[in-house]
Amino acid sequence: MAKITQQKFRLALGQFATGVTIITARNEDGVPIGMTANCFASISLDPPLVMWSIDNASPLYDELAAASHCAIHILGDDQQALSHRFAQDADDKFNGLSIRSGIADLPLLDQHITLLQCEVVDRHKSGDHLIVIGQALDIQHESGNPLLYFSGEYRRLRT
Ligand SMILES: Cc1cc2nc3c(=O)[nH]c(=O)nc-3n(C[C@H](O)[C@H](O)[C@H](O)COP(=O)(O)O)c2cc1C
Repeated sequence: MAKITQQKFRLALGQFATGVTIITARNEDGVPIGMTANCFASISLDPPLVMWSIDNASPLYDELAAASHCAIHILGDDQQALSHRFAQDADDKFNGLSIRSGIADLPLLDQHITLLQCEVVDRHKSGDHLIVIGQALDIQHESGNPLLYFSGEYRRLRT
């Protein structure tokens, strides 16, 4: 059987279209932290559980892995610039953005089509990622078209 190289694996899995989220939390000093993540999925209705995952090479790994709560912002198709901003290794990701305080002082962004505020109830190390499982404590849901990610590029629904 042909060896599965990382490049081949990436290319193949890139064929799975996803939405795009921004995960936010506070680090132990109370500073807002956040990253763009498309590895996000629903798990359970009762209780309402979702999951996302973080690369253990991410500079934010320790801080996000330790967070007791997280906010998941599902982005709309006009929020690509924000996705790009939160996918950079930068200290000033929140500069100039208005932040509301949520459950457990979660830093909430205004930009989303759905916002989940979660308590982290489980974590699983798997390969080079950590899977974080959150129980939704609050949901804010608006209508709007999602930002999509497919084959390494942002896409929009053809409506
Ligand atoms: C569309 C998109 C989806 C991403 N999804 C994930 C993800 O699910 N998990 C992850 O660890 N990194 C993901 N990343 C990469 C992180 O967003 C990025 O490495 C990180 O935010 C860089 O910031 P940091 O260096 O401060 O961690 C994604 C990037 C993009 C552009």
